[in-house]
Amino acid sequence: MLILAIETSCDETAAAVVRDGREALADVVLSQADMHAIYGGVVPEIASRNHITAISRLAEQAIRDAGVTKRDIDAVAVTYAPGLIGALLVGVNFAKGAAMALGVPLIPVHHVRGHIAANYVAFPELEPPFLCLAISGGNSLIVDVRGYTDMHILGCTHDDAAGECFDKAARVLGLPYPGGKPMQDLAEGGDDTAYDLPRPKMGENPYDMSFSGLKTAVVNIVHTAEQRGETLDRPGLAASFARAVSELLVPRTMAAARELGYDTIVAAGGVAANKRVRADLAEACRREGKRLFIPPLKLCGDNAVMIGCQGYYEYLAGHTAGSDLNAYATMDIDELFQ
Ligand code: KG4
Repeated sequence: MLILAIETSCDETAAAVVRDGREALADVVLSQADMHAIYGGVVPEIASRNHITAISRLAEQAIRDAGVTKRDIDAVAVTYAPGLIGALLVGVNFAKGAAMALGVPLIPVHHVRGHIAANYVAFPELEPPFLCLAISGGNSLIVDVRGYTDMHILGCTHDDAAGECFDKAARVLGLPYPGGKPMQDLAEGGDDTAYDLPRPKMGENPYDMSFSGLKTAVVNIVHTAEQRGETLDRPGLAASFARAVSELLVPRTMAAARELGYDTIVAAGGVAANKRVRADLAEACRREGKRLFIPPLKLCGDNAVMIGCQGYYEYLAGHTAGSDLNAYATMDIDELFQ
């Protein structure tokens, strides 16, 4: 089954052609990051406008790159939640039109389910059930993935997402948007014990997280140093920050895996590209004898391959939509659109 997949939930316009949920025949991503960098974050209206101008061109390029024709496409999958509502609507409306014109089913895909599915493309042997740490610019979740479309949230952030926290810490340090990679580069060689940063616990649920206190701590350290005219240990701060983020994520993930008896752990989303998080997860899994799957860097960030992959499994589960499909800015990973 050949799926044309569309992703426009934030500032990447992406199209892909995926065969049987596991094989990417084409993968086109147009990042708008440069256009948003001067504002220090994504401007929703600019994102929507750029999706509109790019989407048809990218979808046609994906079909060409795949070496197929429009008539070979069996279904159209699209990210319909969660994300920037105007940006999502561009993709959803394009996908509706494409599905209608081609006379094929329309498959709505949850963005974070897509991030998890990126692993199915990277690792043909991977199948649910497993425990997943899904960490991106807008979401931070520990998920019990019982089946391809059967997911339950074990823990989540109560405020900022891990990626958002990286971006905001980077901004106060004068680093470009998106800040995750620049923060990682700055941390290179830094002393991760230079600053004592908070690792808050959240209420009753041991798997819930909070990142806003960590972000505020970094802002305060930077502003205090500026006001006092003190020199900041920038690599030390970036390294201490990465360590704190990792220590908020990794022990919770391992504890959840232990409690549920999972031997397979999967990471997904933009922050899964982070060296410190990857290294700490790898070390923890090695210590506890668990299998770890983390997608290659290219599949960690937003792309449409992951949407085509998850779309295949949603289709098999009967999750298709009509032309009344809407987009949703927020939606839990275990919520169904119907
Ligand atoms: O998954 P993604 O591309 O988009 C969303 O679905 O949100 O994630 C983007 C986030 C941004 O916050 C970015 O700063 C972060 O992922 N990110 C990183 C790294 N690369 C990207 N965070 C930490 N370390 C990285 N190497």
